[in-house]
Amino acid sequence: MSTRSKAHTDPETDTAPEVSRGDLAELGVERLRSRVAGELIRTRERSAALTESVDDDDLTRQHSPLMSPLVWDLAHIGSQEELWLVRDVGGAEAIRPDIDDLYDAFQHPRRDRPQLPLLGPAEARSYVGTVRQKVLDLLDRAPLEGRRLVEQAFAFGMIVQHEQQHDETMLATHQLRDGPPVLTAEPPPAASGDLAAEVLVPGGPFTMGTSTEPWALDNERPAHQVHVADFLIDTTPVTNGAYRRFVDGGGYDSPQWWSDAGWAYRQHAGLGAPRFWRRDGASWLRRRFGHVEPLPDDEPVLHVSFHEAEAYARWAGKRLPTEQEWEKAARHDPSTGRSLRYPWGDEDPGPEHANLGQRHLQPAPAGAYPRGAAPCGARQLIGDVWEWTSSDFLPYPGFGAFPYREYSEVFFGPEHKVLRGGSFGTDAAACRGSFRNWDLPIRRQIFAGFRCARTPRPGELG
Ligand SMILES: [Fe+2]
Repeated sequence: MSTRSKAHTDPETDTAPEVSRGDLAELGVERLRSRVAGELIRTRERSAALTESVDDDDLTRQHSPLMSPLVWDLAHIGSQEELWLVRDVGGAEAIRPDIDDLYDAFQHPRRDRPQLPLLGPAEARSYVGTVRQKVLDLLDRAPLEGRRLVEQAFAFGMIVQHEQQHDETMLATHQLRDGPPVLTAEPPPAASGDLAAEVLVPGGPFTMGTSTEPWALDNERPAHQVHVADFLIDTTPVTNGAYRRFVDGGGYDSPQWWSDAGWAYRQHAGLGAPRFWRRDGASWLRRRFGHVEPLPDDEPVLHVSFHEAEAYARWAGKRLPTEQEWEKAARHDPSTGRSLRYPWGDEDPGPEHANLGQRHLQPAPAGAYPRGAAPCGARQLIGDVWEWTSSDFLPYPGFGAFPYREYSEVFFGPEHKVLRGGSFGTDAAACRGSFRNWDLPIRRQIFAGFRCARTPRPGELG
């Protein structure tokens, strides 16, 4: 019986010197325990806010066949926490072995989940609370060394990331939900300073992936050298205003911009604009967490599939960056030859660096976050919108599945495209320069946009 399902993506849906490991390594074990406890508590507050802001009907209803009922996500968070921390790390008896199958993402596709005998809202809350209490007790005494699963509290970090990933999924369900707004947040910061449209990243080797980041997942490992030729990359994600010119210029009616698979999908799905856009005379509105508002031209475009991103890039005379190019632009520091943990350096993300963690309920305008800029000058690589790359989701050389094959390995292959950088709905705990996300090229409900890249024209660089 398989009860260990992959963390955030359902099966259906979904070296040069490297930077020194994160500051977890330098923490004493007691400080590590208290940091883990803080992360668990902070994360649960977000899950609670996402599930307490709607009534029981909204919790148990399916808002889209693409998504689980929110109450499924909630109990699934507890179920994974029970499996990995209470049972595996803690060696304790199962609390609810009877529900393992219900919350195994591999056993039941999302469209079928509303028909399952799921725990109701009160029961689900009680269950996740019981699990959490046992985990906090365990955290006080669990050894954090001697076994790879617990080294530097990896299993706890994995469970924090898993919950945050489901929180982002629940946020996407909120976006799909009809009805008045229930979530609130401050608007994001404005753009600042003049910015070139694109920057050159000179060719040469860099260190991709990580062997030292303590909570990095198996697919980010190991660190390895990659040679990347000269390329130019946009300094910001593509904006609504730019994308609107593609839409209004007939981009969705011109097969020349689309791949064969992209055009077939555009025809089959009847696409004419990003998801949640609505025409309003000569202009556009968009729906955002229950608000219908004029489309902000300066904000990164959101809710486009890989196919749409690819078609836009071709129309613009560019292309999507490869995953290698994206990571080199985001992490490579030419002054030291090192790869940074984040574009701005090794420091954990703060509100001055990036739009993460649902602090705002939309991307910031293109050109915001000057303090989050990468050494190459590109901004907003972390946060705001997930960025589609042209790359298939594949293992790095030397990959080893850990702690289980279903985490990443079963998703490797050409059917999934890699997304990088996280969105405004991604928490800092589940986002870093080496972090890899993947999804089907038709996905539009995720918080995904893109930026373009291109190869220099002959003679362009002098
Ligand atoms: Fe999961």
